[in-house]
Amino acid sequence: MKVYIETYGCQMNEYDSHVVGERLERAGHVLVREPDCADAVVVNTCSVRERAEMRVLGRLRHLRGLIPSGCVLAVIGCVAQRLRKELLSLTPVDLVVGTDGYERLPELLEAAAETGGTVWTPVDGEESYDDRPAPGSASTTEFVAVMRGCNNYCTYCIVPYVRGRERSRPEASILSEVEALVEHGARDVTLLGQNVNSYRSGERGFPELLRRVGATPGLRRLRFATSHPKDLSGDLIDAVASIGTACEHIHLPVQSGSDAVLEAMGRSYDRRRYLDLVKSVRERMPTAAITTDVIVGFPGESELDYEATVSLMRSVRFDSAFMFRYSTRRGTAAASLDDDVTDPVKIERLQRIIELQKSITWEINEQLVGDELEVLCEGPSHRDPGVLFGRTRTNKGVVFDGSAAPGDLVRVRVTEASAWTLRGTMTARSSSTEPGNGP
Ligand code: SAH
Ligand code: SF4
Ligand code: F3S
Repeated sequence: MKVYIETYGCQMNEYDSHVVGERLERAGHVLVREPDCADAVVVNTCSVRERAEMRVLGRLRHLRGLIPSGCVLAVIGCVAQRLRKELLSLTPVDLVVGTDGYERLPELLEAAAETGGTVWTPVDGEESYDDRPAPGSASTTEFVAVMRGCNNYCTYCIVPYVRGRERSRPEASILSEVEALVEHGARDVTLLGQNVNSYRSGERGFPELLRRVGATPGLRRLRFATSHPKDLSGDLIDAVASIGTACEHIHLPVQSGSDAVLEAMGRSYDRRRYLDLVKSVRERMPTAAITTDVIVGFPGESELDYEATVSLMRSVRFDSAFMFRYSTRRGTAAASLDDDVTDPVKIERLQRIIELQKSITWEINEQLVGDELEVLCEGPSHRDPGVLFGRTRTNKGVVFDGSAAPGDLVRVRVTEASAWTLRGTMTARSSSTEPGNGP
């Protein structure tokens, strides 16, 4: 069959779509780039907020009209896991496969093509898709899942319900996957897990995994996401600071600056602990970028609570932030609370912090004008193929003039900064062939 895969949601979903694609190809199917000529369309979905889910449901209806009759429309991912059979009545889809069912996807697609609707959803809490065949190709930047699921049950979050209990992949299989990706040209690898600090492989934890993966010959940059502030350890900060390939960038979702809200969210840390962590990261790595996630309008968030978030953002000065307004997810603990912050207030609070963060990011980026940074070239810019795009070690996007191939490490002098990207001119190939130099 010709199969088209479309992906929504987080990096874990991007990764899963790769795994699913590989499984399908191994079963003899061919991946295509457009839905209109496909025999099957697979949509990998996100249910983290209601709007994300609504968007997916709309897209499914739209796709049905777009694809040939007889083409199987399959939903996988977190919406499939959350809504299960209900999806069959909400949208004109043929097949719903949950987050632990991808192993069987090829056979389920074939069955659906022959007989019509099938549903298969249980999260068994054990699947780690560990036997990923050695990848046959790679991009300059790649993701590798090191664990799946989440045991934290933050009170607003649907992820533990749709992704199941936490499970780590054995170190050996992660190492061989990274080696294979690097052999095929990957230079920048991000290790993924909902809370990488809980990673375990036998006696070893995440800092040790970072050390081992970081030593992969040919790998230039190693990143990870996400680190939960409740258990980001000094050991991990030390590991990042001392491993040459590990980039000085920590994504550390704070969610709120108010102790009362943090407690109601079940985050198990307070404002003080968070600020202390930021201080330790900066003491150890003065050039580190720290990024975050913030939710406004959690049930009970007063004006004072919100101001505490604003003041935390002002004092930390994050390099960038993903900011959301609270969205009730059925089945989570917070869903039983009164969603008492009205939509207009949520929108206004969100708007204000977006503006604030934009000006902070801009100021931080402007300070880089004139500096020469190490940039990993990813290829022509999508927006303007006449120039190149790459990233700094601190994960800032740089659009630059010059001549370089994907995977090249180059030096770029920054000439202009905006809140979103840096612009610059390539001055040289990176002076070092060793990783770990320059911001
Ligand atoms: N495991 C990661 C990310 C999980 S989802 C972590 O713990 O940080 C990504 C982000 O979506 C979260 O950090 C949170 O800011 C946001 N999010 C999750 N559930 C949400 C909800 N119900 N409403 C609004 N934002 C939410
Ligand atoms: Fe959701 Fe919290 Fe787990 Fe992150 S740590 S996935 S926010 S429950
Ligand atoms: Fe990711 Fe969305 Fe699922 S954020 S884990 S795809 S709910």
